[in-house]
Amino acid sequence: MRPDEKKSKSAVAHETYSAGARHFHWWTVALIAIQIPLGVIMTWYGEKYNFASPTAQMYDSHKLLGITILIIVIARFAYRILHGAPGDEPTLEPWQRMISHITHWSIYALLFLVPILGWLAVSAYGPFKPFGIPLPALLAENGDRATFFFTLHKGAAILLALLLCMHVGAAIFHYVIRKDGVLNRMWPGLPRRDGK
Ligand code: HEM
Ligand code: HEM
Repeated sequence: MRPDEKKSKSAVAHETYSAGARHFHWWTVALIAIQIPLGVIMTWYGEKYNFASPTAQMYDSHKLLGITILIIVIARFAYRILHGAPGDEPTLEPWQRMISHITHWSIYALLFLVPILGWLAVSAYGPFKPFGIPLPALLAENGDRATFFFTLHKGAAILLALLLCMHVGAAIFHYVIRKDGVLNRMWPGLPRRDGK
């Protein structure tokens, strides 16, 4: 086999995201789609109804779900580093490739940062016991630090939400307007749009 033949075969094999990468992607989507609205609703409800029930249950669910997301993101990131990603969709302009890489890596960074900031904040607020389960605190109790990390947690979560709106908008733009194969690379079970 000629070296260029080998190269083109491996390029074909990497044209779409693997089943594992797609599972990780859509599990993250499902959990983040619950977590962000839950964060907004619980803080709004707590302020409006003076922390009446079920505010505490919503807070505890948000904390446990946030830690679960962090664990899944660590596993996903390890998978990404070990398995890589398919080459860029060939129809993309160089600037679109650059923006998509920056957006994807920023989303990964925020998927780590947002839950870690939340964990730091609740540790400083003290005691970290969602539903009575004692979980490790990352910091000693300190009210000022708790306020500081809650502000960062909120700011980073807003940034993540904005990037995700951009990301989803780009996926829909590619599917509906450009009619290229970008969405098919990640959509569960779909082959390439060009049938290759
Ligand atoms: C990817 C994971 C996470 C996302 C996307 C997320 C998102 C959010 C959002 C959108 C809010 C509402 C902010 C506001 O309106 O003030 C919030 C608040 C909050 N989050 Fe998270 N969060 C995550 C993980 C965590 C974790 C792991 C913890 C703790 C272990 C946590 C603890 C809290 C707490 C206690 C609040 C309420 C803050 C307050 O009352 O001012 N979050 N989060
Ligand atoms: C919570 C919401 C989401 C998160 C956190 C997220 C995160 C990511 C990340 C980190 C990547 C890069 C994968 C890699 O190269 O390792 C990616 C790729 C992708 N996502 Fe999302 N995503 C979300 C929602 C969505 C939605 C709703 C859609 C579709 C409407 C979508 C469509 C895609 C597509 C098509 C790719 C592959 C882009 C390419 O071909 O390079 N994502 N997503």
